[in-house]
Amino acid sequence: MSQSILVLHGPNLNLLGTREPHLYGHTTLDELNAVLAGLATTLGATLTAFQSNHEGVLVDRIQAARLDGTDFIVINAGAYTHTSVAIRDALAGVKLPYVEVHLSNVYKREPFRHHSYLSDLALGVVAGLGPLGYEAAVRFAAQHVEPV
Ligand code: DQA
Repeated sequence: MSQSILVLHGPNLNLLGTREPHLYGHTTLDELNAVLAGLATTLGATLTAFQSNHEGVLVDRIQAARLDGTDFIVINAGAYTHTSVAIRDALAGVKLPYVEVHLSNVYKREPFRHHSYLSDLALGVVAGLGPLGYEAAVRFAAQHVEPV
């Protein structure tokens, strides 16, 4: 069975490559998405990537995932991780399995980044591994089978 994976990037992740590279590295979002798409192909999965700076747009995309054949979501909600009950509720509402990813180790950073509205509903959380964290999440997603 071929997994359909949706990778969601939240606010400011469109600036990857130039944004605080000491925290987020030099890889651009396009480069990251290309690596993930290639990885998905080698794993026999399909991958769609989507970025928005807007909370409601991310909620709409999560809701659409319920109907468009998405099997698994990999999400870096950026700062909305720490603030958004709406994104949490959308993920809970569509009942799709997901992994939460952060490029940086949020637990080494400011205390307001230590809380996530998404983690307790996630199958897993990856933080601090840079782009490799997304790759690990895509590998996990590609082999994940939902219990029946
Ligand atoms: C981030 C960590 C968040 O705290 C921050 O607001 C981001 C990026 C990360 O990938 O490390 O925008 O999610």
